[in-house]
Amino acid sequence: MDKKEFKVTPYEVSGDVDYDKLIKEFGVTKIDEKLIARIKKHAKEVHPMLSRGVFFAHRDMNWLLDEYEKGNKFFLYTGRGPSGKIQLGHLQTWHFTKWLQDKFGVELWFQFTDDEKFLFKDKSYEEIQQWTKDNMLDVIAVGFDPKKTHFLIDTKHAGLMYPEAIKFAKKITYSTVKAAFGFNDSMNIGSIFYTSMQAVPAILPSVLKGKNIPCLIPLAIDQDPHFRVARDVYPKLNYYKPSIIHGMFLPPLTGTEGKMSSSEESSAIFSTDSPKEVENKIKKYAFSGGKDTLEEHRKLGGNPDIDVSFQYLRMFFEPDDKRLKKIHDDYKSGKLLSGELKAILIEKVNSFLAEHQKNREKAKKQIDKFIFKLT
Ligand code: TRP
Repeated sequence: MDKKEFKVTPYEVSGDVDYDKLIKEFGVTKIDEKLIARIKKHAKEVHPMLSRGVFFAHRDMNWLLDEYEKGNKFFLYTGRGPSGKIQLGHLQTWHFTKWLQDKFGVELWFQFTDDEKFLFKDKSYEEIQQWTKDNMLDVIAVGFDPKKTHFLIDTKHAGLMYPEAIKFAKKITYSTVKAAFGFNDSMNIGSIFYTSMQAVPAILPSVLKGKNIPCLIPLAIDQDPHFRVARDVYPKLNYYKPSIIHGMFLPPLTGTEGKMSSSEESSAIFSTDSPKEVENKIKKYAFSGGKDTLEEHRKLGGNPDIDVSFQYLRMFFEPDDKRLKKIHDDYKSGKLLSGELKAILIEKVNSFLAEHQKNREKAKKQIDKFIFKLT
């Protein structure tokens, strides 16, 4: 692949993603200081993922805040396709989502798309059900408020969702889906229908309450095409278009191209990795922006922009701006060595995962509280 070429769809992320180009291609809006100040007015603080541009683009956030300021509260909606282990990239988006839930005091609807993963992956229905249960533990472990968080499982809540899904399906053509996702004629027919299921949670609370409620969807930008397709349909069904806030991808361990992915062992750190596994993976695979020899590194310094360990600290694990800047400057000047930078990251990730894994154990008793039930 050419250096300038990259691809971002829900089913493939590859190459060196040019986010400015993506903003134009997808027709989303870059988050500016004015919008950040508006969010801060309500949240009373700015999340580092916002101030550092990790969540970098949006659709209709200003409209959402207009409504919020009029007393028309929104709800959050995000989801997970349960086909394997949870890795740090997922947890990054969900921790930001939890921050939004806490700061705005809003409900979260969380969709588990077991139908999607069965249709798209070469895995059995039974295996996908196992991953659904497994992945729920990680979502719960993030710390969402059980009173305000509702899990939807596509095959289990089908009776609730299907009547709405067909209303979307009727207004989306095969050629639209083909163009948006790069599908060809040999795709199975379930995968062509799937976007209509992903569209539904953005209106389900409105359907249940019998009145329109604004919706905000935090997601990694590869999921945007589903909503780009569906957003035209919402008003035709007399609902609001959902607002969206888009995050960048946590890079794979091995370099800054593509995204961290559960299907590639050496690219990812998983939520269940042991401290030793984390240490080994970072030491062995984390792409370094350091120089080849100690003398060279001391003299010329490292490049934090391409250094995966530094990027993980910036995008997730070092919220303190002052400390991050010191690491950045010391690495660039050659004072901090690659091995030392990796050691900082290993410590951070392991203390984060120790907490996550403790919560994940406790979550085993909490699943039932989170699954949505009609009362
Ligand atoms: N399709 C997503 C995945 O493969 C899961 C998902 C469903 C989702 N609804 C969503 C992601 C809303 C973000 C926002 O993981």
